[in-house]
Amino acid sequence: MRGNRIRVLSLAIIFLGGCGGGGGGSSSTAPAGTVSIASVGRAIFFDTNLSSNSNQSCASCHDPATGFADPGVNALAPVSEGSVGGAFGNRNAPTAAYASFSPPFRLTSTAQTSEDGSKYEGGQFLDGRRSTLAAQAKDPFLNPVEMNNADAAEVVNKVRNASYANAFLSAFGSTALDDVATAYDFIAQALAAFETSSEVNQFTSKYDASLIGQYTMTASEANGLTVFKGNKAKCANCHVVDNPTGGPSLFTNFKYFNIGTPVNTMNPAYVSNNAYRDGGLADNTNISPADVASERGKFKVPTLRNIELTAPYMHNGAYDTLEQVITHYDIIVADSFYTAEVNDNIAAELNPFTDVGLGLTPQEITDLVNFMKTLTDGYM
Ligand code: HEC
Ligand code: HEC
Repeated sequence: MRGNRIRVLSLAIIFLGGCGGGGGGSSSTAPAGTVSIASVGRAIFFDTNLSSNSNQSCASCHDPATGFADPGVNALAPVSEGSVGGAFGNRNAPTAAYASFSPPFRLTSTAQTSEDGSKYEGGQFLDGRRSTLAAQAKDPFLNPVEMNNADAAEVVNKVRNASYANAFLSAFGSTALDDVATAYDFIAQALAAFETSSEVNQFTSKYDASLIGQYTMTASEANGLTVFKGNKAKCANCHVVDNPTGGPSLFTNFKYFNIGTPVNTMNPAYVSNNAYRDGGLADNTNISPADVASERGKFKVPTLRNIELTAPYMHNGAYDTLEQVITHYDIIVADSFYTAEVNDNIAAELNPFTDVGLGLTPQEITDLVNFMKTLTDGYM
């Protein structure tokens, strides 16, 4: 059903190797020749043949043109459709860009404070259930509501017959496609290498340009950044601007919070079962059973890079505009009559249910939106 908006990848591009291994801190242990592995990963990422109906690739839901998120979703249809028409997941596809910077999933401390909502951080997926990019990359091929292959052998067979099969063998060795389990590992490694490349993690936004004197923010954008970092809005508490490791700003601390996102009544998971609530981190079976209650409703803080392009917002696609998101933080979650999808464990710094909102002025809201729009790659 998605065939109409699938881009055909020219084979030539595979050998251009436009993506140097410049990106993030991926933990994938790629052998020598990373550029070539990333370019094989690129070919896999765009290959629609790797879905059961040959109509869906990773890029269908993580399209570079829309910040590596799904261009086909909106407020009325907030989650991606699978290779099989009418099959839907429960979550709004996040960007696959900058995911390479998420550290492996781990327990950080046993203390829970309002500033440090969760004991856990990092990992892939909104609930961190896969620790690394390579582990994550194995799932979509076999997920019945995504690419829907029967098993790894089916995927490996398709790669054996792909136009880039020889490139795959030169990157990983002449026997790399002989054994299914080994080949499937290499496929995942190749995807992780592409997702770690500078093609996916561009750092080419107006914000990045402003840091090196190649763009001057408008007064509104500059004030938006000030508000974003300030104590009134507190956005940067979680969407960290000044990376503590000294690296570039990622606009996330890769920690887990419940910000009190509402139920999305347009989400198919809710439509088919009105009692459905997404437990977030509580559904990650790698956390301690003792932590399930206190982690319910928490989701990994998303990067805000390319946020202008990746609507709708939140794990369930509940909000369609950045203004709505700010109204959520400013007014909605603070309303004493409000009910969130998961009403427990909401970050205390958001003053949930206290009738004490952020008190943002209309100008501050406009400025915050304008600032967030400076995070769109492709300016430089
Ligand atoms: C049908 C749409 C769809 C397809 C196809 C798809 N994804 Fe995703 N992707 C999603 C959704 C939805 C999530 C979030 C799921 C969750 O958190 O449970 C996600 C999450 C991710 C994440 C985690 C991002 C983060 O910040 O945690 C990465 C990385 C990713 N996908 C890469 C891929 C790769 C690589 C492929 C191809 C092998 C792929 N995706 C295919 C919809 C899709
Ligand atoms: C306590 C931590 C925290 C604070 C403070 C915070 N956020 Fe968030 N933000 C999150 C989490 C967690 C999510 C994902 C929630 C979900 O999916 O349900 C999120 C989601 C978002 C999204 C949607 C991202 C997407 O890809 O769907 C935007 C936009 C956003 N926040 C902007 C802001 C702004 C602007 C502020 C300040 C007014 C702010 N946030 C303050 C933790 C926080």
